[in-house]
Amino acid sequence: MKASELRSRLTGLSLLVVGDVMLDQYFWGEVRRISPEAPVPVFELQEISYALGGAANVAANLRGLGCQVQLCGVLGEDREGEVFQGLAQQNGLGTEGLIRASDRPTIVKTRVLAQAQHLLRIDSEKVTPLPPLLKENLKKRLEPLLDWAQAVILSDYAKGLFLSEGFCLWLVEEARRRAKPLFVDPKGLNWRKYQGATCITPNRKEFTEIALKEDLPPEDLGQACPRLVSRYGLDFMVVTLGPEGMFLYHPEEGSWHFPAQAKEVYDVSGAGDTAIAALAAFYTAGLPLKEAVAYANLCAGVVVGKMGTKPVLWEEFEAQLEKGT
Ligand SMILES: Nc1ncnc2c1ncn2[C@@H]1O[C@H](COP(=O)(O)OP(=O)(O)OP(=O)(O)O)[C@@H](O)[C@H]1O
Ligand SMILES: [Mg+2]
Repeated sequence: MKASELRSRLTGLSLLVVGDVMLDQYFWGEVRRISPEAPVPVFELQEISYALGGAANVAANLRGLGCQVQLCGVLGEDREGEVFQGLAQQNGLGTEGLIRASDRPTIVKTRVLAQAQHLLRIDSEKVTPLPPLLKENLKKRLEPLLDWAQAVILSDYAKGLFLSEGFCLWLVEEARRRAKPLFVDPKGLNWRKYQGATCITPNRKEFTEIALKEDLPPEDLGQACPRLVSRYGLDFMVVTLGPEGMFLYHPEEGSWHFPAQAKEVYDVSGAGDTAIAALAAFYTAGLPLKEAVAYANLCAGVVVGKMGTKPVLWEEFEAQLEKGT
């Protein structure tokens, strides 16, 4: 497929991201003296900036590739929730699936940076399962979005949305009933709640943990993946291997290893978000599976070369594609 054809297919895609959304907040400033009150630095705040985090970073990556995106998740009834919603809209994300809840704050990760040095991270979150009424409201919001979407990404950061196995399974089953592919970025050892997903994309650590739990050899991907695919009713599986790239297993197409494509590595945070976003987009655009994984690997290679957690942009991907051919 020519790049221009792929680009126009991507811009025509409707994708739904459901997950734990977060606001990344950055405090930029300087430290020039020690506090007279205690032996700690005094941070002089100069500027505050924001970015979309967690599941919202997956959505930002899909937008970066040109897709139409709806984001579904829970925010607090607080100022940070307002900031998040404004940022999502500025980034061109559909916000019909965002619900404000009174029982929890917006999840915020604040990074304090003095002269670009990371001094401190402050987390604000309340990790508890969703109350029943909130789950019902989410399901009502999700029904029309599931009809609209051509594929779904379930981005689990274990911050509340999918702590209920019932809600998680409901989402997976509703997607399957509509024949919409569903991709899971998993957390934790309970994969039963993802049963019947199209694909799960653990990183190396998540893969090792689930393999050990299932009494499978964690170092032997070629042996463990087929067992996990059949046990959890998946169509295929992609393991992201950090500096070693990606591993694909599909029952008919077999096992494939894709070496990492990064030229320079500055910041690997968020690479997993890019990987699942790009994989879902390219697969849903109709690329053969191996090509979709190879291209997702290329996109992840682009973002690890950027400072901070930044989404991939189509132009950057296209430039890499041209270099490779
Ligand atoms: N050090 C690296 N060198 C080259 N490529 C990398 C490196 N780290 C990550 N990548 C690319 O990013 C992809 C995803 O990375 P990784 O497996 O670390 O996911 P992850 O742990 O879920 O990331 P995160 O949770 O930080 O978003 C890899 O499959 C690879 O393509
Ligand atoms: Mg990850």
